[in-house]
Amino acid sequence: MFNETSQYLIARGIEKPQIALILGSGLGELADEIESAIAIPYEEIPNFPVSTVPGHAGKLIYGVLEGKKVIALQGRFHFYEGYDLQTVTYPVRIFKELGVQTVIVTNAAGGVNENFTPGDLMIITDHLNLTGENPLIGANIEAHGPRFVDMTETYSKRGQQILKEVATDIDLHLQEGVYTWFTGPTYETPAEIRYARAIGGDAVGMSTVPEAIVAKHAGMEVVGVSCITNLAAGMQQSLNHEEVMEYSQKAKPKFKQLLRGLISRL
Ligand code: HPA
Repeated sequence: MFNETSQYLIARGIEKPQIALILGSGLGELADEIESAIAIPYEEIPNFPVSTVPGHAGKLIYGVLEGKKVIALQGRFHFYEGYDLQTVTYPVRIFKELGVQTVIVTNAAGGVNENFTPGDLMIITDHLNLTGENPLIGANIEAHGPRFVDMTETYSKRGQQILKEVATDIDLHLQEGVYTWFTGPTYETPAEIRYARAIGGDAVGMSTVPEAIVAKHAGMEVVGVSCITNLAAGMQQSLNHEEVMEYSQKAKPKFKQLLRGLISRL
C-alpha cells in the first residue's frame, strides 16, 4: 500500500525530499513559498486520506525551499475528525518511503506555562500523550522500525539547537517546552489545564504527537514548533477558534523566518 503511494508520487516528479513539513492551523502559507513546486491534491494520490472538510481539499507540495528539497502537507488530518491514527499518520509513512530524513511538525497550541504570551513560538522539547491512544498499536511495520520505540529523544537535540541559533539571529524570543496532546475537539477544561501544568506540560493541542511518534519509529529526525495562539482554559476569559487563527496570523512572519532558517541549516 505504501509502495503504491510512493511510486505514484515518484512518477509525478517527487524526487528524494530531504525534509518534510507538516503545517499547523493558520501556518500553511509557508508551503506557498516553495520554489519549482509540484502541488498534488490529496484525492489524486492512491491510498492517501482525503479531507472531509468541504473547501479544504488539502495538497501535497514538493519543491525547493532554502536550497533543500522539501515536501509539505498543506492540511493535516486530525484524530478528532474521526480518522484512525493509522490514517492520521499515513503521510508520515510515505515520507519514510520517499527517503525523508527530517520531519518538521508544527501546530497552534494553547499556552499552559504562565510565562507564555499569545503569539509566542515554542520549541517542542518533549511531549505528554494524555489520550491513551498510540498510532503504533497494531502489527508492527518492521520495515520502518522496531516494535518498542525509544522515546528518550523524540524531538532532536540538534534541531532544538538550530532553532535557538536561528532565533538569536532573527532577534526572536523563542520559548521552549513540553507539548501536551489531548484529542479534542473540545478545548480542555480548566481542571485539565491545571493537571497538564502539574505534570509538566507547557502547551496543549490536538495534533502533532501521532505524527512525531510515527516519524520517530521510522528513524526520522523530528523537529517541532508550536505557535502559542491563546492562554489555555481557565487562564483567560474564554477560548475560540477565531482567536487561534488571529494569533497564528500574527506570528506568521516570525514563524516563516524561523522555519526558513531551520531548513537552511538542517
Ligand atoms: N487547546 C487545544 N488546542 C489548541 C488550543 C488550546 O488551547 N489553542 C490552539 N489549539
